[in-house]
Amino acid sequence: MAKGILVSNGLIWKQQRHFGIGTLRKLGMGNKGMERGIQTEAHYLVEFFREKQGEAVDPSFPIVHAVSNVICAVVFGHRFSLEDKTFRRLIKAFNSIVAFGNSHFYYMCEMLPWLAELLPGPLHKARFSRDFVRSFVRREIKSHKEKGRIDEPEDFIDFYLKQIEKTKNVPNSTFDEDNMVQSVFDLFLGGSETTATTLRWALLFMLVYPDIQDKVQQELDAVLSPSHLICYEDRKKLPYTNAVVHEILRFSSIILITLPREAVKDTTLLGYHVPKGTLIMANVDSALFDPAYWETPHQFNPGHFLDKGGNFVTREAFLAFSAGHRVCLGEAMAKMELFIIFCSLLQKFKFTVPEGVKEINTDIIFGSTMKPHPYKLCAVLR
Ligand code: HEM
Repeated sequence: MAKGILVSNGLIWKQQRHFGIGTLRKLGMGNKGMERGIQTEAHYLVEFFREKQGEAVDPSFPIVHAVSNVICAVVFGHRFSLEDKTFRRLIKAFNSIVAFGNSHFYYMCEMLPWLAELLPGPLHKARFSRDFVRSFVRREIKSHKEKGRIDEPEDFIDFYLKQIEKTKNVPNSTFDEDNMVQSVFDLFLGGSETTATTLRWALLFMLVYPDIQDKVQQELDAVLSPSHLICYEDRKKLPYTNAVVHEILRFSSIILITLPREAVKDTTLLGYHVPKGTLIMANVDSALFDPAYWETPHQFNPGHFLDKGGNFVTREAFLAFSAGHRVCLGEAMAKMELFIIFCSLLQKFKFTVPEGVKEINTDIIFGSTMKPHPYKLCAVLR
């Protein structure tokens, strides 16, 4: 039976999800507590681009580094340097797990598992990566146990260890080390690639729409002093910028369709009978581009999130994080990360297309998340 949060069901999912959200909130999700960690990573990312002095650079790895470190700080209580070998191996392992999930070979494993076992390459590589991540998490758990600060928990693993202790005599409790390892795994898997991919789209769109980049920078300059440390509260004074961040999430539509879920009972949906056990995948993309809900669905238009007076408005069809019981567990965290990192970068740099590049490719690479093709940009200090 699947463990953790992302692909589990029934009691395991209910308990792990409830605990996961509650703990992320205790650790500051959606409030000041998590803000500091995000500002720290935004600062390192700004320094990375500053050191490049406007030379053409692929922003992917530094972005993945920043976003993964936000989760590391929450889950493990510490961050990694860009050069850290273990961290690089961890990112590589996650990439290879995601790549395996996107491959045709994965479908063969689902349909013909016996045949997959006979073809060692890809399956073994993915298992090796998965085992590396799991043993890394187990090592972290061991060192947390040794620190023995269950009574004053500081990160997700501390809180989880305390929860195991609290529920050890509760019948039906699903809090154990295997579920802890998988929940940590799921927070990484659900939280880092998605947010990093969205930020890669964000900077790519700024190259494609320099007039929109200008307008964001005009708003930032008009409202904040150049040395102001961006915080999430600033979004209330920056309606245009906030609208651009939401339009990036809509227009990049990185999830397209959700993971397969299962109807837990017979139900009726828009007049259709849906029997218990039916597999259901939500078509998030159809909502994000529905012409009945968006004025110019196939155009990058921050106006989608602004009213006539230029105030920020949310929209009913904005379902980038899905909806219902399986709605993204990290939505508040992701929105905070995207806003703070995006604003911190645009406050400091003008992003431009490297000299000699004539065309910008905005096609997607199809996969579990829709990624942009690799690209380079120049970050010119403003
Ligand atoms: C731009 C960033 C993000 C996007 C677009 C996004 C989108 C989504 C979507 C559409 C789902 C529903 C999937 C489904 O039903 O199959 C989901 C689920 C989930 N997300 Fe996110 N997500 C983002 C960031 C995050 C972050 C930062 C975290 C964690 C800290 C996170 C953790 C999760 C988890 C654990 C689930 C599974 C929830 C469940 O099965 O109950 N996500 N996300």
